[in-house]
Amino acid sequence: MTITKAVIPAAGMGTRFLPATKSMPKEMLPIIDKPVLQYVVEEAAASGIEDILIVTGRGKRAVEDHFDFNPELEAFLKDNGKTDLIEQVQGIGDQCRVFYIRQKKQLGLGDAIRLAREHVGREPFAVLLGDTIIDPPAGSPPGLRQLLDAYEKKHASVVAVHRVPRPWVSRYGIVDGRPDAGDSENLVRLRRLVEKPKPADAPSELAIAGRYVFTPEIFDCIDHTGRGVGGEIQLTDAMNLLAQQQPMYALAWQAKRYDIGDRVEYAKCFIDFALRRADTGAAVREHLKTIL
Ligand code: UTP
Repeated sequence: MTITKAVIPAAGMGTRFLPATKSMPKEMLPIIDKPVLQYVVEEAAASGIEDILIVTGRGKRAVEDHFDFNPELEAFLKDNGKTDLIEQVQGIGDQCRVFYIRQKKQLGLGDAIRLAREHVGREPFAVLLGDTIIDPPAGSPPGLRQLLDAYEKKHASVVAVHRVPRPWVSRYGIVDGRPDAGDSENLVRLRRLVEKPKPADAPSELAIAGRYVFTPEIFDCIDHTGRGVGGEIQLTDAMNLLAQQQPMYALAWQAKRYDIGDRVEYAKCFIDFALRRADTGAAVREHLKTIL
């Protein structure tokens, strides 16, 4: 079955990024001139997704406004002869149908995904964290596309993982598994997942990377998941239940992952992207050379 629907949770409080997130969703933080969430929506569209449900909450109106028309802005740009910019702002989000649902209480990522149940129905679907940018090596398919290809091979839920240094495992969900006979080392059948383990207890150094493809049974697993680490309904715990019921895989990819909710990763992402862009690269490189 071709997957056409994706869910983007973007309702979190973003406490690691206060005070910026007091009045502004962290998913709307810009990397140069484009909000993080727009990168995420563009990755979904480039991967073949046609229908996106964004989970928002209080204080997240900027998310809906960003993917809508802004007639006053367009009139202003027209009056000032900036017609190229009109096309740019009008086209945002046009590659997909975008829907919204609000999470009233921030009970955790698992709870946010559960809100998508009616929208998704009994189909497999993708999840892209709204605060995470995936940057595959040049020439590789978009991150989510790689996961969808793995789904089409296995017809089972797949989660993206990336290798992290052992001291970092306590920041992530960590997976434990082995490849099926004949499969590459990079596609691992999951035995279990652990949310934010201590380095000594971690079953591997493969960390969940913010992109997932689920069969619809994940919703029943979330229903049976109690509060976990941090008192939240953890998606990782629900995935653990799913992995006990049906085959589930982890795809270890080479893509870089930027968790924008983390200040250092946000700074790294901003610099990496600024260095790469034609309009900013040379000047930023020169500046970095000077100050370093
Ligand atoms: P995080 O755990 O990184 O987001 O969730 P957070 O809770 O906002 O972060 P801190 O720790 O307070 O800084 C990953 C993604 O899941 C969403 C977030 O918006 C983010 O995109 N999320 C998280 C929800 O939609 N609802 C929740 O209850 C929790």
